[in-house]
Amino acid sequence: MRGRICGTGSYIPEHYYDNNDLAKFVETNDEWIRERTGIVRRHIAEEDTTVSMAIKAAKNALTDAKLNADDLDLILVSTITPNTVIPSTACEVQKELGAVNATCFDISAACSGFVYAYNTAQAYIAAGMYQNILVIGSETLSGIVNWKDRGSCILFGDGAGAAVICAEEGEIFPAVTHSDGAKGQVLACESRQQKNWQDKENEKQTYVSMDGQAVFKFAVKKVPEVIGELLQKADLTEKDIDLFVLHQANLRIIESVAKRMKTDLAKFPVNIEEYGNTSSASITILLDELNKTGRFHKGQKIVLCGFGAGLTWGATLIEW
Ligand code: COA
Repeated sequence: MRGRICGTGSYIPEHYYDNNDLAKFVETNDEWIRERTGIVRRHIAEEDTTVSMAIKAAKNALTDAKLNADDLDLILVSTITPNTVIPSTACEVQKELGAVNATCFDISAACSGFVYAYNTAQAYIAAGMYQNILVIGSETLSGIVNWKDRGSCILFGDGAGAAVICAEEGEIFPAVTHSDGAKGQVLACESRQQKNWQDKENEKQTYVSMDGQAVFKFAVKKVPEVIGELLQKADLTEKDIDLFVLHQANLRIIESVAKRMKTDLAKFPVNIEEYGNTSSASITILLDELNKTGRFHKGQKIVLCGFGAGLTWGATLIEW
């Protein structure tokens, strides 16, 4: 058995900061941010939370999949910004949906989180344990960003995306994942406090700290490598792949990956301009946009690739 995405959904909070808004907090400007990152806006959850956004994205995905909440066997939420330590975000989503038959837990793998959660869902389906799985990525990164650090606060935004994965006959598609805990300190956050965006004076350890150049170098090396590994495992080449849906961290990272892979940039859809880096939500928000705008066609081969804190990275092959 293997899983197929049979519905997608997303939710983005309405309020946003554009680059000129950020220039009021930190010494920066629209031109610098656009040139170095491709980001123009990032949405901020003022009233929403990681849980409420996850629920809204999940409801959209269930509608798209034409499934009821009680059809779900498993709910997996990838997040690094849960509302509470316990209960898990997945259990909170279950409560609101009334998904009484689902087992629920969270996954913490930062910007690789959706790919890790997707692979976990595939493994459960291949093992015959579950049939219908809801995978969600939801983040309120505005709550852990240091709004005084111009090197990092410009990058991140809030949002949620969800995919329903349903079992079908067939062999599981290949996936490759890696982790390197020894390099974890290049992108870290020691503890968590809600709503940093409102309280710009709070303690330093609750902020994300990042060595931007080290993360950049890691991404442009490891992403082409892991996609290469995946394609080799699948006995495919870049030419066989219709779309490469990458974690939306920085437009320059995506451009550099396309160049290193000698692959047309048009195969790498982007929406980073509007949302910035939404960590584990970014791939699934983009999947939902591509799905709802008719960019996917039956039988297309698509590579998903996530990379980020941990360090973690991975790629997985899907067929639409
Ligand atoms: N506005 C204006 N100037 C800024 C700035 C900002 N927002 N942020 C940094 N600068 C300045 C620096 O202070 C530095 O000035 P100096 O030369 O006077 O010291 C200069 O710009 C260059 O800084 P540098 O850090 O070398 O810039 P960069 O080209 O590496 O871009 C990032 C910085 C963060 C955009 C880039 O490193 C990056 O995107 N890295 C990956 C981060 C990421 O994706 N993280 C999440 C992964 S999941």
